[in-house]
Amino acid sequence: MTTAHRPTTSAPRVLIIGATSAIATAVARRYAGRGARLCLLARQPLALQALADDLRVRGAAELSTLHFDASDTAAHPALLAQAWAQWQGFDVALVAHGVLPDQAACQASAAAALASFDINARSVISVLTELANAFEAQRSGVIGVISSPAGDRGRASNYVYGAAKAAVTNFCSGLRHRLYQSGVRVLTILPGFVDTPMTAALPKGGPLWAQPEQVADDIVRGLDHANGPLYTRWFWRWIMLIVRQLPQPLFLRSKL
Ligand SMILES: NC(=O)c1ccc[n+]([C@@H]2O[C@H](COP(=O)([O-])OP(=O)(O)OC[C@H]3O[C@@H](n4cnc5c(N)ncnc54)[C@H](OP(=O)(O)O)[C@@H]3O)[C@@H](O)[C@H]2O)c1
Repeated sequence: MTTAHRPTTSAPRVLIIGATSAIATAVARRYAGRGARLCLLARQPLALQALADDLRVRGAAELSTLHFDASDTAAHPALLAQAWAQWQGFDVALVAHGVLPDQAACQASAAAALASFDINARSVISVLTELANAFEAQRSGVIGVISSPAGDRGRASNYVYGAAKAAVTNFCSGLRHRLYQSGVRVLTILPGFVDTPMTAALPKGGPLWAQPEQVADDIVRGLDHANGPLYTRWFWRWIMLIVRQLPQPLFLRSKL
C-alpha cells in the first residue's frame, strides 16, 4: 500500500519500522512537523492508515506505508529493498518494534521465551542486516534502533526481554564500528520506563517514568547528531552505570 503526498526533494527521507509504536509515533510527529518525507512500516493496517493521516495533517511532505510483520523474516529483504528503491534511499531509519514478554510465562515455557526473542532480537537483526548494507553503499545517513537498558545486565525480573535487548545492543555496537568507515551513524536508543501500551500492565508514576514525547525529543536530537548509545531520559545512563558496576554479592541480594 503506497500513498503519496505533496512531493519535495530537499526534506529528509525517514524510514520508521514499527511506526505505530507509541514512541515511534511521537518521533514521526516530530519529523512530520519538520516537513520530512516519511515511509512507515507497521503490522496493523488501520492503525498505520490513521497514523499516516495524522502525520499528513502535521506537515509530512510525502508519505508511504508498507505492511511489516516482524516475525516474517523471509519477507524482510524484499520489503526493505522495495522501500529503498521507492524512496531512492533514506537519510534516517528508526527500528522501533518490540514486545514485553511475561517473564514468569517465559520461565515456564521455552517456546514463550523464544517467541519473544524472535521479535525482540532475531527480527531486529534481520532488518538491520538489510539496512546496514543499503546505508553502507549509500555512504550517508543514520540508523536508530530502540534497545533497552534491560540489556545492560540480566536481572531476575526481566532477563528474557533483557537478553534479546542485549543482543540488539551488542549487534548495534558492531554495526556502528563497521559503518563508521562509511560515514553512517548508528544510534542505540536505551529508554528507561516509558508510559506506552507496552508498559500498560506495570504500576506507573514517579520520577523515573517518562512520556513518549519526552523520549522522542531525545531520540530526534540523537538522530540529528549523535553516534553511540543514547540513554533517555538522560539519568538512565548513570542509573545503569551503577547497576552494571554493582559487585556480584550485592547484586545477587538486590531486588533490582
Ligand atoms: N515503553 C518502555 O518503557 C520501553 C522501555 C525500553 C525500551 N522500549 C522499546 O521501545 C520500542 C517501542 O515500544 P513502545 O514502548 O513504543 O511500545 P508499543 O507502543 O507497545 O509499541 C510496540 C510496537 O511493536 C509492534 N510489534 C510487536 N510485534 C510486532 C510484529 N510481530 N510485527 C510488527 N510489529 C510488531 C507493535 O505493533 P502492534 O500494534 O501491531 O502490536 C507496536 O507498534 C520497543 O522496542 C520496546 O522494547 C520501550
